[in-house]
Amino acid sequence: WLACIVGVAVAYLLGSLPTGYLAGRVLRGIDIREHGSRSTGATNVLRTLGKAPALAVLLVDIAKGVAAILFARAFYHWLGASPEAVPWAVALCGLAALLGHSRSLWLGFTGGKSAATGLGVLLALSWPVGLGAAFVFLLVLAIGRIVSLASMLAAITAGLLVCILPEPLPSRLLVIAGGLYVILLHRANIARLIAGTEPKIGRRA
Ligand code: G3P
Repeated sequence: WLACIVGVAVAYLLGSLPTGYLAGRVLRGIDIREHGSRSTGATNVLRTLGKAPALAVLLVDIAKGVAAILFARAFYHWLGASPEAVPWAVALCGLAALLGHSRSLWLGFTGGKSAATGLGVLLALSWPVGLGAAFVFLLVLAIGRIVSLASMLAAITAGLLVCILPEPLPSRLLVIAGGLYVILLHRANIARLIAGTEPKIGRRA
């Protein structure tokens, strides 16, 4: 249990790395949480700081999710944890990384909406599920140009794929719980989508 808690704490800290916030502070001396959608995610970085910082934040945020899963697998195997326990502990670490991104220790438990970090978790956990979700994300984005809608539909796709493909139960529960969490974090976006006021990329929030 102690090992499980240590792994989860490390994954949470990895997710907590406040990439978008640091980009705002370093590049323009601003708190990105006071701009646009107030999220620290790559979409709000795109709106507020431009394309290159957004791409950098996107890649680092994806890498945080990948790193959390790869670290967890290596850590629990290194500890000699039982093969039945490892997938459960790894799944908890994936959730912890999502929590860290959206409720960062360094930002008073604020942050982003965990879509990019979630994609990283998916890619490291099961690349077919990750690629399927990424494909749906890009397709919806290309058609509608609304990132929040693309993120939520990608989360739903991941949940469906992980149930269809031969994935272990801990992965299924992680992807479904993580997907629901990502959608919950988008509740302000959902309200704007219903009201017809959700901004498309390339326009001001
Ligand atoms: O990943 C976050 C994205 O889905 C929405 O971001 O800033 O438009 O709320 P934002």
